[in-house]
Amino acid sequence: MRRIHVDTPSRPYDVLVGAGLLDELGQRAREVVGQTRCCVVSETNVAPLYAERVETSLLAAGLEVAPRVTFAAGEEHKTLATLGSILDALAACELTRDDVVIALGGGVTGDMVGLAAALYLRGISVIQVPTSLLAMVDSSVGGKTAVDLPAGKNLVGAFWQPSLVVADVATLSTVPADLFRDSCGEVIKHAVLADAALLDELCEQPLSLERADERLADVVARNVTIKRDVVSADERERGLRQTLNLGHTIGHAIEAASDFSLGHGSCVSAGLCMVARASVERGWCPPEAAARIERCVAAHGLPTGSDLPVETLMDYVAHDKKRHGDGVNVVVPIEVGRCEVRRVDLDELRRLVELGR
Ligand code: GLY
Repeated sequence: MRRIHVDTPSRPYDVLVGAGLLDELGQRAREVVGQTRCCVVSETNVAPLYAERVETSLLAAGLEVAPRVTFAAGEEHKTLATLGSILDALAACELTRDDVVIALGGGVTGDMVGLAAALYLRGISVIQVPTSLLAMVDSSVGGKTAVDLPAGKNLVGAFWQPSLVVADVATLSTVPADLFRDSCGEVIKHAVLADAALLDELCEQPLSLERADERLADVVARNVTIKRDVVSADERERGLRQTLNLGHTIGHAIEAASDFSLGHGSCVSAGLCMVARASVERGWCPPEAAARIERCVAAHGLPTGSDLPVETLMDYVAHDKKRHGDGVNVVVPIEVGRCEVRRVDLDELRRLVELGR
């Protein structure tokens, strides 16, 4: 098992990564939160697969288990209405401030249950148990929680750090292959941000689900370490944490323009390659670096660009929630393993999109 310690100003915690950790969850939780009462909150796809194992492990470690809360799976249910129903269920279980919520599932679960934990009784402990690659390498770490509004994704949320994250890479075996491949986009993004050796390894041997627990644990742990270094230095995204948005300015526009029919990781991959090509044209990034990034993205079967018209992409960029006044902070690769945030106006961003296509 790998243990990565995260030290944010609001809370320090460990991220545990390994195969088979679900069965140790009770013991690991007890070490952190004591002999308390836990409520497993999960969704309709993941709960039948893993909730009973989690609850058995909690009971075996001497923890009390409240009635399980299950909500309908899917991004379309990441809403204020579902959040309200989770809060009602926590209240119906009479969970107190000393109790703990266990968020069992992928990114939607982690974001929404994390927000429920942040709000219920003005904040109770949450243990994140991610079961998708995206949730393991990204959303379960760093304390961002949210639900969507009709006006856009993740528009209501809070920073609420977990007390513990337990990533059992064996649960990835039940992730659909196309979703797993899509999540590789965020893994590649992390490598481009801070781990050139990882990018080359991924390029030579693309991530796969087949009999790969040890390699997956290694890659997940390296990703968590990269994210840990960023969120420990800048919990509230005032500066360094913005670099985690590499590929996202154009990627979010592609995602929204496709009406979310394209996966998030695929859109980030396309956005990453486009901003890398534009950075080469601007003289910010050597051509070899952009070529290495593109090779790795292509090796994972992910898109290296988008055919959408520049004006369509710009319409969505203009409405991005990360826009600041007339400018946008764009993250650009300087070399593989090093990126910078550059503030550009919308005209310059349009040129970057044109150059990246
Ligand atoms: N997923 C980007 C962040 O956590 O800041």
